[in-house]
Parts: sequence; structure tokens; C-alpha cells
Amino acid sequence: GASVRVVQLDNAFPLGSCINGEVIRIPAFVDFFTAHFDWAVFENELKWYWTEPRRGQLSYADADRLLDFCDRAGKPARGHCIFWAVDGDVQQWVKDIGGDRAQLAAAVDARVRGLLGRYAGRFPHYDVNNEMLHGRFFRDRLGDGAAARMFREAARLDPAAALFVNDYNVECGNDPSATPEKYVELIRGLQRGGARVGGVGLQGHVTHPLGEVICDALHKLSAATGLPVWITELDVCEPDDALRADDLEVVLREAFAHPAVEGVVLWGFMKGHMWRPDAALVNQDGTVNDAGQRFLDLRREWTSDA
Ligand code: XIL
Repeated sequence: GASVRVVQLDNAFPLGSCINGEVIRIPAFVDFFTAHFDWAVFENELKWYWTEPRRGQLSYADADRLLDFCDRAGKPARGHCIFWAVDGDVQQWVKDIGGDRAQLAAAVDARVRGLLGRYAGRFPHYDVNNEMLHGRFFRDRLGDGAAARMFREAARLDPAAALFVNDYNVECGNDPSATPEKYVELIRGLQRGGARVGGVGLQGHVTHPLGEVICDALHKLSAATGLPVWITELDVCEPDDALRADDLEVVLREAFAHPAVEGVVLWGFMKGHMWRPDAALVNQDGTVNDAGQRFLDLRREWTSDA
């Protein structure tokens, strides 16, 4: 109805993209990003393995550079991510701590304090422990309460930040370890542990053909938790531009139409500069393909009569 539409326009449905140290030096990327996106997320530069590749050797310069870029462009950035729960994405020195629980706990506390102490108030969102449905690195070594403790510490250090869970395949309907029900269970467990969960991230690394389950996941998650949902890392993997455009439109419309969804962030948009191949919206010279044109049309549709 009319009232719903007004609310959506007032919210000016935010659309974002990931950026990295390389793409912010490409003029065609910067022009497109600045003109058509409202939010950013750093592809890797805030991750623990990036800011502390060796124990005690802190390197925030790359993250600072991206944050500076965002500040100058006037785009808020999601803080991705404080921790990553998947073994394969934990850097070697952290793995080398092995079963020394006290040492690992100290390293974890130092990471939260170092990052949020430095950036408190700068990132409106944080993904606290990325992909907990798919990895148990900290839980296996520090116990069931490990993630709740990360959330509590993060909330203490940056009270204004919305603290997110963030995971993949929840929207795809064919990953038994990532059902909406399991995601809800995970969130409830965190909340029982005193975590102030502020939002639910659905990464959205989808592949053609889409199942008809994104809506289903959105309904289940928002009904059960009452939390806002963001699509945090959307890319549609499909080599055919026209098919990719259609899939992109389906996901964006479902997200826009669902009252719990407060924003959508793409995991990049430029050909040759994306984690997943065949997901681009924009060519390297800045011209759009079908998917890019569809994105621009939808964005215009959602903002023109504001
Ligand atoms: C990916 C980056 O795009 C790559 O450059 C990096 O090598 C690995 O990580 N889920 C996430 C993101 O939460 O952080 C991942 O990003 C993609 C999957």
C-alpha cells in the first residue's frame, strides 16, 4: 500500500559495494561507486589476518586508507569482520597458539580491543564472528560462550555499532548446515549468552538459477528474531549478462519489498575485480552490462519519486 512505499522511500533503501585498496585507484570504479552506492565494506583490509599478519605486528594502514576514502566520499562502511569462525580463514599464528586456551583468549580480547578501540564510532556495523554456521574455530578452543563474549566486548567498546551475525547459503535453501532455523538457533544462543545482536547478515553469494527461497529465509529470520536483515555480500554468479540481470532484479526486489531488510551490499561490481567470476555489473571502462543497467534502473525507481 501507499504507506509502505512512503516508509521505504524515507529509509532511502541503502545500496552498497565492497571496495579494496586496488579498486579505489581505478577512476572508472571510483566514479561508479561514488555516483551509485551509499555504503561500503572493505573486502579484506579489516580482517584479522590483514591487520595482524604476525602476532603483535599491527598494520592498519590499508584499512585507514579505505576509511579515509569512504569519509571523503561520504559513505558509511560496514566493519567486516572482527573474527572469522572458519579454520581455513584463520591466520597461521593464531592457529599456532593451538590448545593454549588462556593465550588464545588473550589474543581474541586484544583483537577486539585493538580494533574497536581504534575505530569506535567509525563503523556503524560490525560482522563480529563471520560464518559461525560454517566454522567453529573459536568455539572449539574457547567453548560455547566464545562468540557471545566477542559480542559483549564489542558492545562495550562501541556501544553505537550494530553487531551482526553474517553467513552464507542461508538464502539458497540447499545447505543443511545453513538453514534459516539453524541461523535462528545460533542467534538465540548468542542472545542467551548476553550478546546484543543488532542485525542479521545474509551474504547473498547466489548462483543462477535462483531457488525460490530468499523470501522464505527473510520471513523466517525476521519473524523469529525481529532483527533487521542486510544482504551483505551480494553477487550473482552467471556468465550470461541477461540472465544475471534477471536474477539480480529478483534478489533486489525481494530485499526491497521485505520490511525487515534495511540494505543490500554488493560484493564488488567491476569485471576483473570481483571475488567470484561472472558476477560483474560494470566493465572496466565504466560502461554497464545488462546487470548493471538493471541495477541503475531499480535504483532510480526506488529514489526518483522520493
Ligand atoms: C573473500 C574476498 O573477496 C577474497 O579476496 C579473499 O581472498 C577471501 O575472502 N565471505 C566473506 C568474505 O565473508 O569476507 C569473503 O571475501 C567471501 C565470502
